[in-house]
This record gives sequence, structure tokens and C-alpha cells, in this order.
Amino acid sequence: MMKVTTTINETRSIISEWKKQGLTVGFVPTMGYLHEGHQSLIKKAVQENDRVAVSIFVNPMQFSPNEDLDKYPRDFAADTKLCSESGVDLIFHPEPEEMYCDGFCSFVDMTGLTAELCGKSRPIHFRGVCTVVNKLFNIIQPDRAYFGQKDAQQLSVIRRMVKDLNIPTEIIDCPIIREADGLAKSSRNKYLNPEERKAALILSKTIFLGERLIKDGEKNVSVILDKMKKNIETEPLAKIDYVEAVDFDSVQKIDEIKGKVLFAIAVYIGKTRLIDNFIFEA
Ligand code: PAJ
Repeated sequence: MMKVTTTINETRSIISEWKKQGLTVGFVPTMGYLHEGHQSLIKKAVQENDRVAVSIFVNPMQFSPNEDLDKYPRDFAADTKLCSESGVDLIFHPEPEEMYCDGFCSFVDMTGLTAELCGKSRPIHFRGVCTVVNKLFNIIQPDRAYFGQKDAQQLSVIRRMVKDLNIPTEIIDCPIIREADGLAKSSRNKYLNPEERKAALILSKTIFLGERLIKDGEKNVSVILDKMKKNIETEPLAKIDYVEAVDFDSVQKIDEIKGKVLFAIAVYIGKTRLIDNFIFEA
């Protein structure tokens, strides 16, 4: 039977029971409104671990005051169903007051990796992500934790944090899951009206264009980025936040294709900011 907890104490006691029995624990942190993208992480975790915990927590600390915290979509009943059908053993679903006690003032911050891409338009975002993921890791103490390549910068940031802070959890990357027409699955797709939903296809089309240019032998990063930008500009509802190529591990800009390169884009479709990317390994 799947358990649902809302307090840290209750969660810890279930986890410590599992650990006493020598069971391995897989963990999938989420903000809920779960879709097949999240489910692919959950399924992998279920395959690779004796027990699987999923957290569902819309983390206020990673949203700026002008962002979509209040309207972030929620559907706990549907999330519970998806988790239970996917073989999850525990959902941890705390309120913000449980995670951030009175007087809370400790943070996990990072330099360098968080300066580019989403860090530019979302300056406090990764501090919030690192702090909450660190807290969740301390509560769940997972052997393995699963993150989607959809949020590629987040993945690099978490890997760096785990290395720097000696966190005994293995980070597992999971590929981007897309809708049939190519759009990367995202809880934020719910914000799109039918016209915007069509326009949003410009993101995946641009990602596929970049991939194809490289496959066809284009090696000049600025030529690739330029063609990707021009492609986005053909869509009247789209406004570019960034179109960049960075080294996947350091998240620093590159001008030559070498090692593992992350091509990442963020585009406003109307008021909704969407991201997509591809990784090319030279
Ligand atoms: P959330 O946006 O709910 O995403 C939870 C996890 O699901 C992330 O690792 C994300 O990369 C992955 N994911 C989302 N869409 C995906 C897709 N289409 N294909 C593959 N994986 C996908 O990311 C967060 O929550 C938060 O920042 C969190 C890590 C939970 C910290 O609050």
C-alpha cells in the first residue's frame, strides 16, 4: 500500500524502517501536476530500487515574487493515482510551513553554474532548488535520485552540489519525454491557450533543427545558434529569453563544440516561459 505523509517526522520513520531492512531507496523530487515526463523518472526509480519515494512540493523558495507560484497547477488526487499505479511506495507532500520553520535562514548557494541560462532571468531560482533538494535528500536519504534532462541546467547544478557537498546519493539522468507533436511535456503547458499551444511547437522544432545542423556537419556554434534564433523569430507569438550553447558540466558558454555540449533555449509564448534543449556529445 502506498503511503502519503505530510510531516518530516513521519517520513523519516518510514524511511528508517526501510533502511533497517536493508532496502534501497529511490527518490523522485517533483512539484506535482505529474505527467508522463515525471512518470518516466518514477518508472526508472521503481525498476532500480526496492522502495521509491516521490515528493510533491511546490517550493516557494525557487519562485521570484513576479513568477507563477500562486497559479502553479496542482492536482493532488490525479498525482496520487499516477504514483500508486506506477508502483510508488511513499508520497511526501508537505506544506511550506513544514519545510520552512519559523526563523528559517540557511541556504545552499552556488556560483558559476547558476550564472548563465535560466540563472540570468531567474536570479534566485537555483538557490531555492539547491536548498530544497538538499533538505529533501536529508529527509529521504535516497540511494539514487532521478532528474529529467528537460531541466538540463538543474541537472548539472544538482550533480555539482552532490559532488561538492559529499552527498551520498547517486544522481540519475532521464531523457526528455515529448508530446506526439514534439513539445516537451511540462506542467506549465497547461497555461497555453489553443493558439499558443500551436505556437509552442517552435521550441521543439528549433531543438530538432539544431540537432540536424550538427548531424549534417555544421561545427560553428554561432552559425547554429543564429539559425536557431532566426527559426524562433518566424513565430509571431514567441519571444526569446535565451538561445545558448554551454559546456554541460560547467554551464559556461562555449564557442567550439568539444566534450558534452548543451544547446538550451528559453522562449516566452505569450506570458508562458517554456524551455527545451538537446545535448550533443562530440
Ligand atoms: P518539476 O518541474 O515538477 O520536475 C520534476 C522532475 O521531472 C525534474 O527532474 C524534471 O526535469 C523532470 N521532468 C519534467 N518534465 C519532464 C519531461 N518532459 N521529460 C523528462 N523529465 C521531465 O524540477 C522541479 O520540479 C523542481 O525544481 C524540483 C527539483 C522538484 C525542486 O523543487
